[in-house]
Formats: sequence, C-alpha cells, structure tokens
Amino acid sequence: MQLERIRLSSLHQKVMSAEEACEFIQDGMTVGMSGFTRAGEAKAVPRALVERVRQSPIKINLMTGASLGNDLDKALTEAGLLARRMPFQVDNTLRKAINNGQVMFIDQHLSETVEQLRNHQLKLPDIAVIEAVAITEQGHIVPTTSVGNSASFAIFAKQVIIEINTLHLPELEGLHDIYIPSYRPSRLPLPLVKVDDRIGSTAIPIDPAKIVGIVFTNQADSFSTVSAPDADTDGIASHLVSFFREEVKQGRLAKNLSPLQAGIGNIANAVMMGLLNSEFTDMTMYSEVLQDSTFELIDAGKLKFASGSSITLSEPCYARVFGDLAKYKDKLVLRPQEISNHPEIVRRLGIIAVNTALEFDIYGNVNSTHVCGTRMMNGIGGSGDFARNAHYAIFVTKSIAKNGNISSVVPMVSHVDHTEHDVDILVTEQGLADLRGLAPRERAVQIINNCVHPDYRAQMLDYFERACERGGHTPHLMDEAFSWHVRLEQTGSMKG
Ligand code: COA
Repeated sequence: MQLERIRLSSLHQKVMSAEEACEFIQDGMTVGMSGFTRAGEAKAVPRALVERVRQSPIKINLMTGASLGNDLDKALTEAGLLARRMPFQVDNTLRKAINNGQVMFIDQHLSETVEQLRNHQLKLPDIAVIEAVAITEQGHIVPTTSVGNSASFAIFAKQVIIEINTLHLPELEGLHDIYIPSYRPSRLPLPLVKVDDRIGSTAIPIDPAKIVGIVFTNQADSFSTVSAPDADTDGIASHLVSFFREEVKQGRLAKNLSPLQAGIGNIANAVMMGLLNSEFTDMTMYSEVLQDSTFELIDAGKLKFASGSSITLSEPCYARVFGDLAKYKDKLVLRPQEISNHPEIVRRLGIIAVNTALEFDIYGNVNSTHVCGTRMMNGIGGSGDFARNAHYAIFVTKSIAKNGNISSVVPMVSHVDHTEHDVDILVTEQGLADLRGLAPRERAVQIINNCVHPDYRAQMLDYFERACERGGHTPHLMDEAFSWHVRLEQTGSMKG
C-alpha cells in the first residue's frame, strides 16, 4: 500500500527508517527542511536526529520555509543541534536560545531566502529533508500542506531525503503549483497575472538520483493555536471594513476589494473573520498562510479563490477542510513562498496587505519583531514582502498589551521593520489612521487621535507638542524618545 505512493519503482530500494536516514546528516551541514507556519514539516528524520545527538553531539545550520510544528524547533534547540536558524520561527524555547545568543538567527524576508541561494549569496543546502504525499513516475516530489522553500531546497541540495506522510490524503496532489524563476539578470516577467493562475507543475522536479532515503511517516501537522476574535479584534475589523466601504464608495477599490493578504497570528486571523459579516463578496486572497478565516470566508460564499504557501488550521477546521478536500480543491493553490510573496506579483495584483505590529510610532514606523528593541519575538516573516509593495499596506495591533502596561503606540519604535514610507494605514481597536499623503506632523495627529489608548493619549500628546516646539521635519525629543521603553523595563509599565 505504502509503496504505491512511490510511483518510480526504482526508488523502492531507497526506503529506510528515520534512524538510518538521519545518518546522512553530518556535523556542520546546512540542512534545508520543509515546513512553513507549522504545516508540512519533515517530522520523523529531525526527531531521529534529536535522539542520535544524545550519543554524539553535532551542530547544523537549519533553513526552513518558516516555523516548524510538532515542537520540532523546541526539540532541536534542546538537543543543542542548531548553530544557525533561518528565516522564521515562533517557538518559545528557540526564541530564548536566540535571545541569549546561543543560536544565530537570520531574520529574513520570506521571499528572499531561495533567491539568495540561487545567486550563491547563501551557502546551498548540503541535504534537503522534504515531507511529501507521493513521488511521481518521474521521481518528482508532491509536497503536503505547505510548499514554502521545499522546491528550491530539493533542487539545490546535493542529497534529498523524502518523508512520505501517509496520513495526508493522496488527493492533495494537484493542489500545488511549483514555479521556479530563472536566473537574473535575464529573467522574464513572472507569468502570473491573476490570483488563480497556475504557472508551474504540480510536483517538485528533481533528479531522482539525488534521493538518498525515503522514510514513511504517519503523523499529523500541529493544529494552529489562534484564539477566537474578541471585542478588540472585532473593533479593529470593524474600522477596516468601514475603511474599505469608503474606498469603494470613492471609486478607489472594486466592490470585491483587491486580493487580500493576511499575516499570521490571532489579530490578522480575527480581522479576516470580520469580513464574514461584511457586504463584500467574490473576494480573492493572495497570501502566504491560509488560516481558519480563509475557509470560513469560502464556506460563507464570500471568498472565491485563495492562493497561499501553506494551510495551517485549528483542529475543527482541519477536519472540515481535509475531510472534504474535493469541495475546496478548485478554489485553492499552494505555491513556493518566493512566488506567494513575490514583490513583482504583490505590486502587479494590487494586494491589500494586513499584517500585525508589535508597536508603531507616532510617525508610522512599525516594529513587528523586537520586544523593547532587543528581544526577538518571531521574525519579520512575509510582512515586509507584502507591505513594501502592497496597494494598501495596513498594520493592525491592539492599542495596549500586557494588561495595559505597554502602549503599542510609542513615541519612537525601538526597532524598525517597516519604515513610515511603507505604511499606509494603521488600525487599533480605538480607530484607524489613514496616513496616505500626509507629512510626519500630520501623521502624528492622526495616529494620536485615532489609535492611541485613552490611558496614554495625554502622555503622547505632551511628548508630541514638546517635540514640535523643538522643531524638525519629524519632531522628536531624542533624550526622551525611548523613555517609555526604559520606564517599562525599570518599573514594569510605560505609564508616566
Ligand atoms: N511589546 C511586548 N509584547 C507585546 C507587544 C508589545 N508592544 N504587543 C503585543 N505583545 C505580546 C502580546 O501580549 C502577546 O503575548 P503573549 O503571547 O505572552 O500573550 C504576543 O505579543 C502576541 O500578541 P497578540 O496580541 O496575541 O498578537 P498576534 O498573535 O497577532 O501576534 C505578532 C503579533 C506581531 C507577534 C505576530 O503577528 C508576528 O510575529 N508578526 C511578524 C511576522 C509577520 O507579520 N508575518 C506575517 C506575514 S504572513
């Protein structure tokens, strides 16, 4: 039964245990593994590696699409396996190891990793470990619930290990669209002009001679842990829906909006849920992670097509979607992350990009990654790929965090991921600031009046007015700009 999933019979002899396969991974190697936002990661080989290094420690440089599920980043960190990790993670244990300098983390725009590999700006992976649903007659790899960077890892690596996960339905085949851009500078335009265009193949084309091991597994992806919408996220969604309504009225947006991109996490998912109760229909999504909200919108007849790089769902939503994949298959496509996040396509399609900020400042600079300017949270992910090139670059956040001890709007961000030049709209549950066409002093007024929590508004206005007295195009009191963060670290609260 299992062998039917390997349709090139000469590869049957490559079937082995995860313990045998992980012997191909040696000290100092760069390993490219499948996995994107806890979907479609290789599961058995990394686990076997964790067990193996208990006897003989090794270090590897690990590249993935994005975060891994099944606590693999935790296990790999605890085993001391990781020397370097890129380009994204969301694990608490790994986060601590990154922040205490044990693991060198390269926080990268998700569309750029394989572009840098292709141009030899990064060392090519020695070995790739890719989860698959099947291997075709040509020896090509059919990915599972994510594509991420798997295609280019498999193409660039000298050796490839494939994990065939029999828990994933064979019906997943056909969902993927693998397109690999050619080399620069003679590359032609990417031939994708509509969200539902298919421009590549349904499997990853590699030379089967590179496949050194095939492992069978039977383990589910981790379920997403997003929390249900709450009053604040409902507030953010409602401000955004009103904004879209006005944009349509003014003729700046079509009635079915523009293709939507939604970032990871509770807030972006909840905001997309907010569109469920709106009047907008026939919407499309050109995003990176397809979360529960994507399928809620499809089921409600609001979303007609969704393009992404992975599918990460809560347990009930997972059962619904994969229990009846035929219902969704013609409305979905999974692409390599360099295509789902490609600046050329984001600009061409006119995407509405909704991503989450940890904090933003009174002039519109956004910090999505560093708590108090120093401690890595998750990484920039695809937010910059989208925001820099979007039709509308929108950032959302609750106006306060940690029981009100943190204001998410600060005088000056303690780390910049998205500069004021790349940000159009900021939204908190308090309101929406439309920054388009405004000078810094005008932006500050919009942001303070509409986005700052009432507990911090007077304090912020005081800062801004005194900064204006001192002057400048972007007025600041340099001796005070970070005083809110300093106060938080010293007293546990930003309140003055
Ligand atoms: N300072 C410190 N901590 C803050 C904070 C701030 N200004 N703002 C929020 N937080 C904390 C929250 O309290 C929460 O902590 P907890 O996990 O201990 O409860 C945590 O950050 C997550 O915040 P939450 O409000 O639940 O939002 P989220 O789940 O939507 O995540 C980001 C927000 C910014 C961390 C997340 O969206 C992210 O990593 N973004 C960067 C990558 C990205 O945008 N990718 C999208 C491209 S597809």
